Amino acid sequence: MARDGALYVCQACGAVHAKWAGQCSACLGWNTLVEEARAQTPPGALTASKSSKARAGLAFETLDVETLPPPRIVTGVEEFDRVCGGGVVPGSAILVGGDPGVGKSTLLMQVAAAASLRGARCAYISGEEAIEQVRARAQRMGLGHAPVKLAAETALRDIVEGLKRDRFDLVIIDSIQTLWSDQHEAGPGSVTQVRAAAGELVRLAKKTGVAVVLVGHVTKDGQIAGPRVVEHMVDAVLAFEGERGYPFRILRGVKNRFGATDEIGVFEMSDAGLREVKNPSALFLNEGGERASGAAVFAGIEGSRPVLVEFQALVAPSALGTPRRAVVGWDSGRLAMVLAVLEARCGLGFGNKDIYLNVAGGLRITEPAADLAAAAALASSALDQPLPQDCVVFGEVSLSGEVRAVSRMEMRMKEAAKLGFARALGPSSGTEGFSFPVAGVSKLADAVRRVAENDFQSARKAPAVVGVRGGKG
Ligand code: TYD
Ligand code: MG
Repeated sequence: MARDGALYVCQACGAVHAKWAGQCSACLGWNTLVEEARAQTPPGALTASKSSKARAGLAFETLDVETLPPPRIVTGVEEFDRVCGGGVVPGSAILVGGDPGVGKSTLLMQVAAAASLRGARCAYISGEEAIEQVRARAQRMGLGHAPVKLAAETALRDIVEGLKRDRFDLVIIDSIQTLWSDQHEAGPGSVTQVRAAAGELVRLAKKTGVAVVLVGHVTKDGQIAGPRVVEHMVDAVLAFEGERGYPFRILRGVKNRFGATDEIGVFEMSDAGLREVKNPSALFLNEGGERASGAAVFAGIEGSRPVLVEFQALVAPSALGTPRRAVVGWDSGRLAMVLAVLEARCGLGFGNKDIYLNVAGGLRITEPAADLAAAAALASSALDQPLPQDCVVFGEVSLSGEVRAVSRMEMRMKEAAKLGFARALGPSSGTEGFSFPVAGVSKLADAVRRVAENDFQSARKAPAVVGVRGGKG
């Protein structure tokens, strides 16, 4: 029987057990359970439930009360504000996750500096670097004059007391994994500590109205280290991503209680910090030259903005018993599906071929509208037939081999036209009446035929021309 008051928390997945065991029954990890004293009821919750209102019983409200949108701290880093839903909401907690070295500290220093220059009271508390290091970096980025208050601290109690004493609008905690609470015995970075620190800071945010941004490192398998539990506690989770070798960094909303999660912010890492990329549509296109076989430009939408990006496929004979399927920037399950449809419905064979699919520029595409672009790139490579230079591709492919209409097609084509594209390979339904010529296909097999025959004529006929030949002359 467990000692009274003791709980055992898995350090890998955060599951709570009443008894110690060698293996966590939730994530099946070995030797991951660590004893944790049963948490006392959080002080905030206690006082709230003892208030006279709570004692009067559970009070219900109606939905039809007029509410104002939450006020926002507009930091001035537009790409960041957009992903947050139009600025940071006071009293909210945001977790920013990302690989080590991706630029989280750089981004958040820039956010704090920009917000402070617009009059918000900002603090940057680093548990990872000394004040001199943080200051030197800020000065190198040309932010030395911003009135941001710096501190280097890892003791949770000191941080919370300091934040109660000095009032701020926005506080950056870099990082949550370095904090430790003297109420718990586990080491810094353990699930117990991270959960305690996040819980305490979220409560502080709700109570005092300060917006708290927590930096979290990401483990090898892409989870915010240790606890997914922190993701449940905070109001927004933003992922900061970038491929090694590319300067581009994408800030992506994973969860947001105050905005949409499909928005992305695009940055470029330079010598003087992160530069905002306000119009990313042409960023992920390969410049110049003939388009080689295997390349297809996808007219995509990320959040509210159109983004054109090149899909590159290589289909090559395999020397291996099990051919390779390598994909960067797209979902491997989706690739398997598109390959199966190409094999089953379009007569292309990939059985003994290695397949590589790459999204140029380090962007990760999640839209189903990219199916047709991936299929066109694969067909183009398999048939060694390049697509026309001025053609964009979009459309969703179903298992039955149909090509379906996708959202906001007109917006995709307008952006393509702006960048010099003159035609599209896309669904035949829903694109009638557009000024942009679309080589419409209703089946994936039609698309493959068009690639094979290099036929990208729009289906629309010019009716007046028929019959003219019969005239005189
Ligand atoms: P950093 O913000 O420290 O990453 P994180 O906090 O996510 O671990 O960024 C580190 C990387 O960014 C480092 O490899 C150097 C690079 N960098 C620049 O290229 N230019 C700059 O102006 C700054 C500040 C960093
Ligand atoms: Mg850092």
